[in-house]
Amino acid sequence: MGDLVFSYSIWRKQGVWSLLRHLRLVLLRRLHHALWDCRYDAFEAEPTSTLLDRKHLKPNNSDNLSLAREYTPSPRLAVGWILDGLKEDLSGFSFVDFGSGRGRVLLAAAERPFRKIRGIEFSQRLHQEATRNIAEYPDEKLLCKDLKSICVDAEEFELPDQDCVFYFYNPFDASLLEKVITNALDTAQARGNRILLVYYNPVHQAVVSRQNRLRAIPLPLSVRIKMKLFSPYPACVYGNIHLQDTA
Ligand SMILES: C[S@@+](CC[C@H](N)C(=O)[O-])C[C@H]1O[C@@H](n2cnc3c(N)ncnc32)[C@H](O)[C@@H]1O
Repeated sequence: MGDLVFSYSIWRKQGVWSLLRHLRLVLLRRLHHALWDCRYDAFEAEPTSTLLDRKHLKPNNSDNLSLAREYTPSPRLAVGWILDGLKEDLSGFSFVDFGSGRGRVLLAAAERPFRKIRGIEFSQRLHQEATRNIAEYPDEKLLCKDLKSICVDAEEFELPDQDCVFYFYNPFDASLLEKVITNALDTAQARGNRILLVYYNPVHQAVVSRQNRLRAIPLPLSVRIKMKLFSPYPACVYGNIHLQDTA
């Protein structure tokens, strides 16, 4: 009933195209859960598919709640398409999910041979649930065993001194996104590390594209087609360049 009322209000306020876009999104999210993500329900001590509204996040030591987005999980298939589409030897990279919630993306990433995987989550409750999900996940499914959720604000997190894949599923507002990305680029530049930045549902894409130390990396055509047709949201991938390299 709630969905119907929401759809009606979109149609009244924004017109028929917005309504169709909204219905496509709802349909794709439900299909991903019904056809794929539900297969993992049995392995999850704390179900990752349940949404958590911002007012329940109750972050630990953070003034950034007003900039946060609610907890909502990425579809695993889309995460897999993107990571496999990076066409890199992932064993040379660490993986960091900024705003990692109950750990679904961490566990999807751990099915690939990353050096280490870190989830940054400022909600104590979600962090504890992610820790339980990680502890109880079947070991034989994990190619990367160095896997942790850390309860900290994304602004405070100390980055691994390694080449990294950073994953953002639209976790917070543009101002904080800009701070976090600028800090990550400064750190990587000072240490000479590579960064591949994946931005899923890139609502604040302008923040990323105006960074002159990042260049867009196109995903392979087959991945772009799958994402366009079957992913609820698009994704962008960027890689860092050191300015002195291009001078
Ligand atoms: C859209 S959810 C994404 C969850 C997970 N990455 C996924 O894709 O399944 C965004 C998450 O970012 C977290 N978050 C928001 N602001 C944060 C901040 N400043 N520091 C750390 N985590 C934050 C929220 O608590 C929420 O769990």
